[in-house]
Amino acid sequence: MTNGVRTIDDIKEVTNAGTGCGRCIKDIEEILIMICTCKGVSKDTVSEAIKNGADTVEKVSEATEAGTGCGKCKVEIQTLIDTKE
Ligand code: FES
Repeated sequence: MTNGVRTIDDIKEVTNAGTGCGRCIKDIEEILIMICTCKGVSKDTVSEAIKNGADTVEKVSEATEAGTGCGKCKVEIQTLIDTKE
């Protein structure tokens, strides 16, 4: 996610999405847990790969396909590796 937008409240403030009937909140939550939107890979999946020994972005990509599309998520993957989240 860009511009540090990581929570439902951030999304509401920046885009006004989710401020009406709220029916879209579940969809927004699903988007927020995605690290790699190109390949639909969640933070939990990337974290699991790291726990299983993937200690480089390339290894995480091999294990999960995260980072194999546009590549924008590689910085976030590296951050997860660095922080062992
Ligand atoms: S967002 Fe992960 S490769 Fe595009």
